[in-house]
Amino acid sequence: MCGIVAFTGTNQAAAILLAGLTRLEHRGYDSAGIAVIYPDRPELQLTRQAGKVAKLAKAVVREKIVGTCGIGHTRWATHGVPSEANAHPHRDCSGKIAVAHNGIIENYARLKDELLRQGHQFSSQTDTEVVAHLVEHNYNKLAEAAAAANGGGDDIATGNATGAGSNDTGTSNANANATGAGSTARADLAEAVRITVSQLSGSFALAILHADHPDEIVVTRNDSPLVLGCFEGGAIAASGLPALLEYTRDIAYIEDRDLAVLHRDGQIDYYDPAGEPFTPSTYHVDWTLEQAEKGGYPDFMLKEICEQPRVIRDTIAGRFDEATRSLSFDELPLTDEELANIDRIVIVACGTSYHAGLIGKDLIESWARIPVEVEVASEFRYRNPIINSNTLVIAISQSGETADTLEAVRQARRAGAHVIALTNVLGSQITREAQTVLYIKANLEIAVAATKSFLAQVAMLTLLGLYLAQERSLLTGPQIQELYGEMSKLPLQLEHILADTSAIERAADSCVAAQTALFIGRGVGATTCYEGALKLKEISYLHAEAFSAGEIKHGPIALIDAEAATPVIVVATQSTTHDKTLANIEEVKARGASVIAVATEGDGRIAELADYVIYIPPIRECFSPITASVPLQLFARHIALARGCDVDQPRNLAKSVTVE
Ligand code: AGP
Repeated sequence: MCGIVAFTGTNQAAAILLAGLTRLEHRGYDSAGIAVIYPDRPELQLTRQAGKVAKLAKAVVREKIVGTCGIGHTRWATHGVPSEANAHPHRDCSGKIAVAHNGIIENYARLKDELLRQGHQFSSQTDTEVVAHLVEHNYNKLAEAAAAANGGGDDIATGNATGAGSNDTGTSNANANATGAGSTARADLAEAVRITVSQLSGSFALAILHADHPDEIVVTRNDSPLVLGCFEGGAIAASGLPALLEYTRDIAYIEDRDLAVLHRDGQIDYYDPAGEPFTPSTYHVDWTLEQAEKGGYPDFMLKEICEQPRVIRDTIAGRFDEATRSLSFDELPLTDEELANIDRIVIVACGTSYHAGLIGKDLIESWARIPVEVEVASEFRYRNPIINSNTLVIAISQSGETADTLEAVRQARRAGAHVIALTNVLGSQITREAQTVLYIKANLEIAVAATKSFLAQVAMLTLLGLYLAQERSLLTGPQIQELYGEMSKLPLQLEHILADTSAIERAADSCVAAQTALFIGRGVGATTCYEGALKLKEISYLHAEAFSAGEIKHGPIALIDAEAATPVIVVATQSTTHDKTLANIEEVKARGASVIAVATEGDGRIAELADYVIYIPPIRECFSPITASVPLQLFARHIALARGCDVDQPRNLAKSVTVE
């Protein structure tokens, strides 16, 4: 999704905007741009490029962009092809107002028709440009009212715009021909934006500046993420934390349709949708910039895979009390009676988070004996689900900003359910919409493909399943203690797997030229396969599909091409259905498949059947998704690199899907 950075202060804005946009690159984008107010005159410098931020940076140097008040943007195209003309920031007719936007203005067509009728001239196909012209319209109305109230005099005449000049890099010294009234007095930019926001529907995070207001930037949001902070050099706002971490770790968020005005002196003023000032809650995040960097790894994905032992350790730490031999979830405000009345759990999520939910289902049902349904949020929100006050809804979202999952949360709340948000990002939107928040401790996850956040989600759901069983007296203290003790071995087991990846790489090398790959397993082994297949296809673009091993005979086995020796990856770790899985291996082998098995150390039989075996340490079946997933992550990454793919920023994907 798009990335926004806004800065005003004493530092040169361009450098801060470019650095911030670079740290948001993982959000996925196709073009980028910045707008900076000249330090010595009420005009904008605008530079936009189709392509990467590095290309924009060259244009900024070439154009000698200077000034301490500016906004920047990386665009993920939703309306209009990726191009310089459609890149943000977008300007109004006067060329004095610039807007950077993340989201979708759903009523932009109607607004654009009205603005065209009023004589506004548009230069792009985007929904965003409507905001620039709407702010211009509201600003001019306020200015005219102010001028009339002052007896027609202009407190500060900004004069008519002069002709626009633009050159071949899409850089132009602003000032297109103005529409509407002639010279206009200054108005209250924040008020003009506030009025504009009341006219918009859809999702947006907006950063708006006006050349006549060189010391301030107005930001606002609705559904789309925005985080704010200040430091001695000024005030900054951005779509995500990485853009701020270099300057401050004390941050604030605003609610839907709130406004914030960033001032040059580092002061930020906050207003609610009615224009009333307020003081927001602030958070101190302990994510350092280094954590946002690669830390010596070749890519963020490998860095994050290798962080998984610590992530599991941090996620389970502090949950078990040795003295009482019990698990605690103090975040969960449900009384014993409310917990006892839960007759159904619904897990809603998307993508990898959905796969974590599938694993959570198996574990919660087996221990707590509560029926669990797992739903893709984009389906859940449109099918009038059966939810009531005895339903516990668990919404899983690493980013906490996925549009479909957020809407599912709102629906579940309206239906009276208690909603738990399981997320990785402090203060993200989902944390402000659910009644309970369970933070996984995966730390900043930059790579688009989820890895450590997935394992942390599974670990948290495992603990939650044990906790619910404990609270329903279905597991005793000693049993909880034994299971928690096994979970505590997981970090060491992951380190063992990470210490020698040669078998994984050999198996992966055999698949680099494959056209398709099948994944099969049983029970939690099957759900582990779903995530393994997603990892492979989303970063290597190699088609992959996962099935319950028992299903392979009911159709998918036709996909095995003996000539191509179709790779079949089998999660065949120790389990109650291990023998059945071995039989499935023999079935696919008989049809010419090349079998890659993830198996438990000491399993001699598997070596007789499989072409490649990736051994992992023995662990109780219920915890095996955590250990078996790591080889599949590394397997996918190795193939992707061999196929020349960008494992951190796969094509067409974004880290957080904040539009539906
Ligand atoms: C996972 O590798 C993908 N990046 C994607 O499927 C992701 O899990 C999905 O978009 C959900 O994101 P969320 O967890 O932030 O809601």
